[in-house]
Amino acid sequence: MKRLFRQTIFCLVIGWCFALTAYGQTRAVRPIEFADIPATFHTWLKEQGITAESFAAYRQRIEAQTAERERRGEWEHLIYYGLQSSRFTKLPKIEPALSARGFAQKLKAEERIRWLSANEFSPTTQQLPPEVNARLAAFQQALPSKTKDERMSYFQQFTRNVTDLPAALRREYAATMQFLYQKEFQAKPTAAEIAALYQSRGHSTDTQIEANFAVHTILTILKSERPALKLNRVLIVGPGLDFAPRTDLLDEFEPQSYQPFAVADALLQLKLSDETSLQIDCADINDRVIAHWQRVNQRGTQQKPHLVKLLSGVADRAEAPLSEDFKTYFAALGKGIGLTAPLKPPAQLADHLSKSLAVRPTINKTIRALKLNVLTERQALASPYDLIIVTNVFPYFSDVELMLALTNLAKQLGETGYVVHNEPRATASAVTQALHLPLQHSRTVLIASGKSAPLYDFIAVHQKKTDKKSE
Ligand SMILES: C[S@@+](CC[C@H](N)C(=O)[O-])C[C@H]1O[C@@H](n2cnc3c(N)ncnc32)[C@H](O)[C@@H]1O
Repeated sequence: MKRLFRQTIFCLVIGWCFALTAYGQTRAVRPIEFADIPATFHTWLKEQGITAESFAAYRQRIEAQTAERERRGEWEHLIYYGLQSSRFTKLPKIEPALSARGFAQKLKAEERIRWLSANEFSPTTQQLPPEVNARLAAFQQALPSKTKDERMSYFQQFTRNVTDLPAALRREYAATMQFLYQKEFQAKPTAAEIAALYQSRGHSTDTQIEANFAVHTILTILKSERPALKLNRVLIVGPGLDFAPRTDLLDEFEPQSYQPFAVADALLQLKLSDETSLQIDCADINDRVIAHWQRVNQRGTQQKPHLVKLLSGVADRAEAPLSEDFKTYFAALGKGIGLTAPLKPPAQLADHLSKSLAVRPTINKTIRALKLNVLTERQALASPYDLIIVTNVFPYFSDVELMLALTNLAKQLGETGYVVHNEPRATASAVTQALHLPLQHSRTVLIASGKSAPLYDFIAVHQKKTDKKSE
């Protein structure tokens, strides 16, 4: 009896220590309070009806909205998978944006108005294009089968409590098509209307290598300006996972995520960090993204090499060629963290740049994932970050939410730390100024040229300038 008691206490202590080590970061996460928001933003908040008294309820509202937008985003990924995957059917792929137009054309005028104005529209089988019905039926039939496919097994879990799956698939198809139709086809939406769509749409985990080209460019500038600079403690907000994107779903490959590897590679190649000092935390709200990066970290502990398939999201075509700078970036990508080798892309993506990368296990170990909503939570850190990177996450936030996110991030940044982001909104400039995070540099990089629509990315870096007197 005594022995059993001793064993139980031993297990509890070991378990508790393990929880502290493995989830130490998670435990340090706390929800924000009104007092965490600098006084300079209080009048703005008050204008939105947010006061010290109502702040807790406001925070809960954001959390509920985040969860709902995440749920919608996961359904969107499922629908994109259902329309494009070749894993469960030989039926032709359906391009989602074209499907949105086909669906709109099939609806009667009055139905179309209801679909575009409603939060929820439940179409009948007859209202859906026949090719969509066929694909959704094939998906549903394949869903219960035993599978090793990461995407399919995720969707099995995701839909396990859905009672009427055919109706849910039709409803979620209509919801997914609504966003696409409004963005791509409805009476030329203005930039402001598109921005508003993003601020309320489902959360996507889509990611492409291209986002890291601009990050690399700005890190190169920092290095040339301050050759002795060290950026060892890094936070990446929303690393994403290329799971079931809206176009060019590539399910010959398992889901890939690139940003933490691309950032580690840039920091090591530029000698802004070294392998023994580098620590990259990845914060995300999505459990699927977090689980991916936890597995990557685990592989590092098991000394297993990690193979990443690198494929440009944008094609290199005569009418819109990739820029030489981007090609040079792609050619060198990965050499700081592992071994690269040629990779033949799948036939339909033959004009995309591609290669494989075997990442050293020590690199995997430097990357840790934690669940954190940057709008409503922050970490209490013993050693704050030298660098925080946020690309393609801020467009999902309203102006006030952008202020909350930047405020939380600024608090997790060391005294002279940097924030890198690609948000061109004026609010980002105004808020960063108020947070003593003035702009250091901004650049526009060319990814692909082309007469009709050249593809650029914007990037900005801010540095914290703590004004001790004004604190
Ligand atoms: C569109 S992906 C961007 C991926 C990558 N950064 C890139 O540029 O390719 C957005 C990511 O941000 C995450 N995200 C969205 N809102 C967030 C929040 N409030 N806190 C933390 N992560 C968030 C999503 O789950 C997703 O992984």
